[in-house]
Amino acid sequence: MSFHSIDQAPARLNRSELAVPGSQPGMFEKAAQSDVDVIFLDLEDAVAPDEKEQARKNIIEALNDIDWGDKTMSVRINGLDTHYMYRDVVDVVEQAGARLDLIMIPKVGTAADVYAVDMMVTQIEDAKGYKKRIGFEHIIETALGMQNVTEIAGASKRNESLHFGVADYAASTRARTTIIGGVNPDYAVLTDPDGEANRATHWGDMWHYALARMVVAARANGLRPIDGPFGDFQDPEGYKAAAKRAAVLGCEGKWAIHPSQIELANQVMSPGNAEVTKAQRILEAMAEAEASGKGAVSLDGRLIDYASIRQAEVMVEKARQIAA
Ligand code: GLV
Ligand code: MG
Repeated sequence: MSFHSIDQAPARLNRSELAVPGSQPGMFEKAAQSDVDVIFLDLEDAVAPDEKEQARKNIIEALNDIDWGDKTMSVRINGLDTHYMYRDVVDVVEQAGARLDLIMIPKVGTAADVYAVDMMVTQIEDAKGYKKRIGFEHIIETALGMQNVTEIAGASKRNESLHFGVADYAASTRARTTIIGGVNPDYAVLTDPDGEANRATHWGDMWHYALARMVVAARANGLRPIDGPFGDFQDPEGYKAAAKRAAVLGCEGKWAIHPSQIELANQVMSPGNAEVTKAQRILEAMAEAEASGKGAVSLDGRLIDYASIRQAEVMVEKARQIAA
């Protein structure tokens, strides 16, 4: 390991994160009763300009009055380029900061954006005498944010997670797509180029680079990488495939933009019994190997070594966190 040690963000279950528009208070109770791990009440892109003020009031009231149980509660504020943002922070943190766990900052572009919100939140928390510190989740969803993702990830002790905002990212990079997440038939390669008759189209994952880059920046700074929205809520199989790709790359969770996606996210983002059992067997086999003075052994015909212990521990720790 490097001599540089990485402080880990507070451990929170973040397999699913439900987006709930602040302008739709009728959805709040149902969200509170759901099995979701994190809820973000939205003041940004799901709320029309004319509704921003009322949405803010709804969110303040709901944070104070609704029993959200042990759910992690977040508010997505408006972007730093809008005049809504300062009131979002001041009003929500002053009036409902006690029940707020996280603030979600959309379209974050530079480390200075994070610094600015950190300064505001710190002043409000100190003035109100709040003991608990509110954490930050950042949506990486612009070319600028992706370019500066490493600096953003390390910009504040409040940082907890990075989220891939695929829709805005597509707009910002001018990607030729209008769908939210999922794959695009134009991002494809032709297989078997020598055999005309057997040629097939193999679709690729156009989001791979962006997601992988974000995962690295998050993990190098002890943060949770979370995959963003999948717009077609009528396509559970497509959602699960996207969530699985994200999980395989290291993401801990995925957004749900519809309640039906909560269960899918929880399912995909929880390691299965077979995976956990295999991880436990690896730990047992390596403990035996170590006791007999060996650093590497074979398990089920495959080599395992000290790196396998670290991989297996990630899996077992996740299972423990979910069971708790
Ligand atoms: C989320 O905010 C997105 O733009 O995908
Ligand atoms: Mg967005």
